[in-house]
Amino acid sequence: MLDEKAYKQRVYIEEIHQHVGEEVILAGWLSNKRSSGKIHFLLVRDGTNTIQCVVVKGECPDEVFEAYNQLSLESSLLVKGLVKEDRRSPLGYELLVTDLRIIHRAEEYPIGKKEHGIDFLLDHRHLWLRHRRPFAVLRIRHQVVKAIRDFFNSRGFVLVDTPIFTPAACEGTTTLFETDYFGEKAYLTQSGQLYAEAAAMAFGKVYCFGGTFRAEKSKTRRHLTEFWMVEPEVAYADLDDNMKLAEDFVSHIVQHVLENCQMELNMLERDTSRLEKVSPPFPRITYDEAVQILHDNQIDFQWGDDFGGTDETVISNQFDKPVIVHRYPAAVKAFYMKRDPQNPDLALAMDVLAPEGYGEIIGGSQREDDYDTLVQRLEEHNLPREAFEWYLDLRRYGSVPHSGFGLGVERTVAWICGTHHVRETIPFPRTIYRLTP
Ligand code: 4AD
Ligand code: MG
Repeated sequence: MLDEKAYKQRVYIEEIHQHVGEEVILAGWLSNKRSSGKIHFLLVRDGTNTIQCVVVKGECPDEVFEAYNQLSLESSLLVKGLVKEDRRSPLGYELLVTDLRIIHRAEEYPIGKKEHGIDFLLDHRHLWLRHRRPFAVLRIRHQVVKAIRDFFNSRGFVLVDTPIFTPAACEGTTTLFETDYFGEKAYLTQSGQLYAEAAAMAFGKVYCFGGTFRAEKSKTRRHLTEFWMVEPEVAYADLDDNMKLAEDFVSHIVQHVLENCQMELNMLERDTSRLEKVSPPFPRITYDEAVQILHDNQIDFQWGDDFGGTDETVISNQFDKPVIVHRYPAAVKAFYMKRDPQNPDLALAMDVLAPEGYGEIIGGSQREDDYDTLVQRLEEHNLPREAFEWYLDLRRYGSVPHSGFGLGVERTVAWICGTHHVRETIPFPRTIYRLTP
């Protein structure tokens, strides 16, 4: 039998095409098995992909053939075998097994072949990660994150990590997670934006990227309580510059995934024809025009309200690319947004709505850069001035027009993957009802 250290010579399944006709060792887990009596079929995955391994009586030592009976699902094992091309299999290759070693015989595995409910699967997320859908979705997430970093790094943005413990709200006081900070109140960050603004005055163009937290009581398919957001911030940039950056950015992410994740998109049976159209420029409409679209579609919507999920779907369904909606009523937007000089009831805000009903993936704005106006906004929003003194300093010392936005990673991944709910797009989701595993 194979030595237990034989994994040191292993090759990865994703590289198997380089070894056709050779004998190789794989190190992985058994994801499924079946047998016709004289031939056993083992589906072995190693994290990079899954391969069918064929064990034929007489073509391997008897004890290897007999080991089949002891192999429970998710047992870890080393397999040695000859790589053969196999057009019928999804991978295109199979392994004719010559040797095998069980590293650990798994106990009876809780996730079976039968259909499980989503709650059961999420309770077993630590194991469910090993399965086909999470494999595809989370590998796409990985590429989305890579594309995000590559985009900003290649354009000269400086990464600035912003704090997770914060003294004040950025995105409204109703969704703050409060915690005790040595006898003082602290909040988990809702957004790194205010700090990114400070950093933009120091480095010109920056981005922060990290976990953000919101005590969202809304139980929708688009809300998590912990999600990842990337937030660029640019000094000397107005709303138009911001929209341009956003459409270039989203297009880059989508094109990167199309180029690097064909296998994963196929596994998810994602129709990619809509994704292929994602390139600049994106249609831009004002909030007023968006409201008109809702009214034209017989939706009962009051001017001045914020769009709900269904509204966003109706608006985005008019376009075959993401659509940028700009100039929202200031009353529904955050304190830091600059007002439109043409109409002070409007904020120089913009949201990017993804197609196919995935809703808002980006929220951003040009920022209020005038000291007195910002002081007034803090008062209007009942925000404690002391906690924002440092932020006001940015308007005391060399204030400039500046803009930025935040893109939610989970909503972006959900859209690209075509998954119904954002909870599948993060390894260990946190929602109003879920803190485990
Ligand atoms: O529109 P939001 O609230 O904008 C901000 O936080 C700004 N400070 C960003 C900035 O200008 N720097 O959130 C930005 C994005 C949303 O468009 C959405 O994609 C995502 O973050 N998001 C959520 N994703 C999952 N669950 C939630 N509860 C989310 N809330 C926002
Ligand atoms: Mg928003």
